[in-house]
Parts: sequence; C-alpha cells; structure tokens
Amino acid sequence: MGNAKVPFLDLVTVHRDLHDELLAVFKTALDTAGFIGGPMVHEFEREFAEFCESRWCVGMGSGTDALRLALMAAGVQPGDTVVTVPLTFIATTEAISQAGARPDFVDIDERTCTMDPRKLRAYLETDCTPDLQSGRVVSKRTGSAVTAVIPVHLYGQMADMDPILELAARFNFIVIEDACQAHGAEYFSKKEDRWRKAGSMGRAAAFSFYPGKNLGACGEAGAVTTDDEGVARRCQMLRDHGQSRKYFHDLEGYNGRLDAIQAGVLRVKLRHLAKWNEQRRERARGYDELFTGSAGAIALQQVPLWSRPVYHLYAVRVADRERLQADLTAAGIGTGIHYPIPLHLLQAYEALGFRPGDFPVAEQAASQVLSLPMFPDLSPEQQRRVTTEVFQSMRMRESGGVR
Ligand SMILES: Cc1ncc(COP(=O)(O)O)c(C=O)c1O
Repeated sequence: MGNAKVPFLDLVTVHRDLHDELLAVFKTALDTAGFIGGPMVHEFEREFAEFCESRWCVGMGSGTDALRLALMAAGVQPGDTVVTVPLTFIATTEAISQAGARPDFVDIDERTCTMDPRKLRAYLETDCTPDLQSGRVVSKRTGSAVTAVIPVHLYGQMADMDPILELAARFNFIVIEDACQAHGAEYFSKKEDRWRKAGSMGRAAAFSFYPGKNLGACGEAGAVTTDDEGVARRCQMLRDHGQSRKYFHDLEGYNGRLDAIQAGVLRVKLRHLAKWNEQRRERARGYDELFTGSAGAIALQQVPLWSRPVYHLYAVRVADRERLQADLTAAGIGTGIHYPIPLHLLQAYEALGFRPGDFPVAEQAASQVLSLPMFPDLSPEQQRRVTTEVFQSMRMRESGGVR
C-alpha cells in the first residue's frame, strides 16, 4: 500500500465492473429510441418500491425534484410552515421554499446528527400556538400552520421515526422522509415491533440517485416512494406537466421525469445494492475497531439499537477539523465536510433572521464533522492507512508540532 492515495470515493471501479451491463442499457435506449418513460422506468419503479417495502415508487429527475413534488403531492400549500433540521444539504430547504412553504428548524440529536424528537416536541409545544379549528399548530416565528416535517436520514442512518410519527398524529402534520442518503437503511419500530425500511415510514419519501449515492445513476436522478396511491398519482402528474393523459393537463406541473437511460442504469445497480450496503457496514466496523483507543479525541457517530445504517458517509467528529483535513489532504487522503455551515446560517437564508447559537448542536457538529473515505471497495489496507494518518495528525497536534 505504501503511501498510495486513498480517494474519498471511487466511482471508476464500480462502473468498470459493470461496464458491459451498463453499455447494454445505453444500446437498448439507442436501438429503441426509448429515452423518456417506457419499460425501463416502469420496471425500475416496481423494483425500487419493492426494495423499499413501499407500495409505490415514482421516478424523478433528481432528489430535489422528488422532495419538492412529494411535499406538493402530499398537500403542503403555499405559505405553510415545514420543519426540518439545520444539518443537511440545502436541497431539503430549497424543496420547501420552492413548494411555496416556509422552512423552520429544530435542532439535531448530538449522538446521531439526526432530528431530535424531544426538540421537535418542545418546538411544537412552546414555539407554536394551537389552532383549534384545524387541529394544527401555528409557528410563532413564521405565523403559519406547521403542515409537514422532514426528518433527514443523514449519512445513511434513519432519524428516530417512532416519536416523530407520534407527534405527527398528535399535531396533525405529515412526515416526508428525506431519504436521499439512506437507500436500504432500516429502523426498528417499537410501536410495530418490526424493522422498517427508509422510504416506507412517512407519508412519502424522497431519494436521490446522484452518482455518489449508495445507489447512484450515471447522471441526475431521484424518486418518491409512498404507500399512498393519491400521493403517487399526483407525483406522476406533477413530474409530467400536470398531465393525466397526453395533453390533458389537470394542473400545472413541472418537467421532473426520470429518464429511461438512468432508470436502466439504476436497475443494473439495484441488484448489487444490498451487497454494497453490507460492504459499507463492514468498512464502518473496520473504522470503528481501528479507532477504539483514540481516547475520546475522535467521536464516532452513534448507532442506536433501533438503527441499521447504510453508511453513505462515515463521519467522525474532531475538535481541530480543519487541521486534520489539511494533514489528510497532504497525505493524499480524500475527505469531505457534510456540512460546514448549518442551513440557518447560510447567506441564502439571511432574511429568515436566524443567529449563531439558535441551533447549538447542529452548529457544533458543522464545525467538527469530517467524512473519511467510504465506498464498498475500500480495502482494509486503505482504511489502516487512513487511520494511521489520522492518529499521526492528532499526535502532532498534541505535541504542538507541524508536519
Ligand atoms: C440530504 C439530501 N437531500 C436532498 C438531496 C438532493 O438530491 P439531488 O442532488 O439528487 O437533487 C441530497 C443530495 O445530495 C441530499 O444529500
């Protein structure tokens, strides 16, 4: 292994291994001129719904389209308040704003970096006032009714869904899962006494198939899953200019379709997803073991007993993150930061008026998280090299030295 570089993500090897099957997809599309809709899209939708243990899957142009159209199809109206977490990709709140709603936030649980149900409850009970007529609550900050909540299954680990769904029933809002990083992740529902798949618990869920995801296309792609036939039908119309049949537009929609080539690619890769997720879990166990004995200098993401994550990312937390990242870059090791600025402090949301300190757990996480190389083909030698370099950097810091 020596000092060979370790990439953050290797998207070349996986496609090389599947080269012939993927070329066959492109050939089929060219031979049949079937670029939009058609059997590859329908088959993928059927297979992905089955994988997620949900009744319906509606292919979309991206995860962002999937989130936005899921919110709209599930009934979120312009002016409504939709609550999510500050530690996520901006697409979560873009989808809320672009559906005409107003984003609001509750903080994360520091152990899992996902929505803290206790904070959601506190928000609903104290930062909102009840509206007896609708049975909903009205956010004191936005002045409008909270009609939906988006828990984000961050880094491949599901949010604590049971208490969130209990609050949804009590306060009359819908739950849309942001499952864009969590293809195949599972949650043990105590209420139902069984494991549930990401994408099967909310009114609907959004998935991204951006190339680097656990299930990635060779371009842009996404999907909505749902058990609700009405939501599925509205998603099908919204992604296709609001038409129920060609040129019969029941409403104004969007161009948000999954294209056939990407659907064909996703079908090929879906057959390997369970195996790849298992390999990611093995890699995560490998890192966990290599990091035991780091004497608390490196905090690992906790996995509660109710969670079976799929490790889209392997994020650690360290006090001097910028320096560790610089040392790893100098040693040829790729890393990422997910995400350096919590959404409420982004310039894009300046007008919302949030201040540093409003969501302290997310803010601290954003200043400490560092994602290490993680992909199914990552070798144990590569992992050892990563952890050796991490320890080396920490030792240098302790001794006050520079490399
Ligand atoms: C948590 C989360 N939500 C939404 C998205 C948006 O997905 P896409 O890039 O496919 O639009 C992503 C993708 O990066 C994501 O990670």
